[in-house]
Amino acid sequence: MKIVFATHNQHKLREVQSLLPLTIELLSLTDIGCTEEILETATTLEGNAKIKANYITNTYGYACFADDTGLEVAVLDGEPGVYSARYAGDHADAEANMSKLLLNLVGKSDRSAQFKTVVVLNLNGRQHVFEGVCKGEILSTRQGTQGFGYDPIFKPHGFDTSFAQMSMEEKGRISHRGKAIALLVEFLKDSAASVKP
Ligand code: IMP
Repeated sequence: MKIVFATHNQHKLREVQSLLPLTIELLSLTDIGCTEEILETATTLEGNAKIKANYITNTYGYACFADDTGLEVAVLDGEPGVYSARYAGDHADAEANMSKLLLNLVGKSDRSAQFKTVVVLNLNGRQHVFEGVCKGEILSTRQGTQGFGYDPIFKPHGFDTSFAQMSMEEKGRISHRGKAIALLVEFLKDSAASVKP
């Protein structure tokens, strides 16, 4: 069974492929020759994941899954949320996004936040949604150099370090994306097992 993971990121693709049985072959957007930009115009994570998965299934005819992630800060009514990648502007980098968030939290005592990943899968004419959440808090200064995005200022519950001070494996075990992908993998394994050779 071939399934497209709607990403150009080979690292993400290999990571998920390594968790799947050999009967499931993942293809990236590059593998299927999809070079057009898929605009993420929805106002929810699920909406954006659906846009990407549906575009691939409708245009290329493949079974496909897509993910979208956001950081939701309670005292900011869930911001930056679906706009996490471009919080400080359309071409903002991680540094600018973190600086804006830290500034918006100056003087706030409630620093609770969560990362959420939504994965949408189109398979055999049906759509399935998987969600992973990692709760924690926003630190007041950057800590650590690993990872990406908001990792240096996010400390998950039950840990003394930021995401950026963890190894990729440690983060993957507790992270929003790790949890959502684990649910997807279990579902795909069951689906692959029920397909007769
Ligand atoms: P994407 O949907 O995976 O592209 O994530 C959207 C944005 O959320 C990224 O550009 C990052 O700013 C942020 N983000 C997503 N996942 C993580 C994470 O695991 N750590 C830190 N930031 C993340």
